[in-house]
Amino acid sequence: MHALIAYASLSGNTREVARMVAARCSTHGHCVTLLDVDDAQAAALAARPHDRLLLGCWTDNAGRTPAEMKRFVGALRDADALPPPERVAVFGTGETQWGLEYYCGAAHRLARWFGSPHPVLEIEQMPHGQADARTIHHWTDTVLVATGVPVPC
Ligand SMILES: Cc1cc2nc3c(=O)[nH]c(=O)nc-3n(C[C@H](O)[C@H](O)[C@H](O)COP(=O)(O)O)c2cc1C
Repeated sequence: MHALIAYASLSGNTREVARMVAARCSTHGHCVTLLDVDDAQAAALAARPHDRLLLGCWTDNAGRTPAEMKRFVGALRDADALPPPERVAVFGTGETQWGLEYYCGAAHRLARWFGSPHPVLEIEQMPHGQADARTIHHWTDTVLVATGVPVPC
């Protein structure tokens, strides 16, 4: 059993957060698969058994979910591979300059769509410094506990 970390990233910000989340999961002894949802094999890989789905997404115009993430989620649904809501947690990057009502809008839309009960992690642009690292570690630790009993690999 392991954590699947699937992300959509246009310019690398969300990929970096995903890598930090993955590193934190590994530190706690979890098996991790890190997956770019734009990868041709993404949906097939995501359909394999995993005990948590940590989903990361950048936000497109006016708080929208980018097309590659919509495709990925649609493929999971079509494959009947959607995890239960309590096993899904969402993180995102965005920019407040697009308007606070749209900030990290895609991450919030995804969390609502999956029915995730966990807090959404918001990071502004590329994560940097100790404060962002602490925020990412704290979120990861919290969702690892909340999404189920930690299972070392
Ligand atoms: C066309 C466009 C529209 C955007 N609209 C929003 C938005 O509505 N809300 C937001 O928080 N960020 C918005 N952003 C900012 C990106 O989500 C942000 O830069 C993000 O960190 C990019 O992540 P990535 O490097 O993983 O692609 C927009 C960026 C682009 C290029």
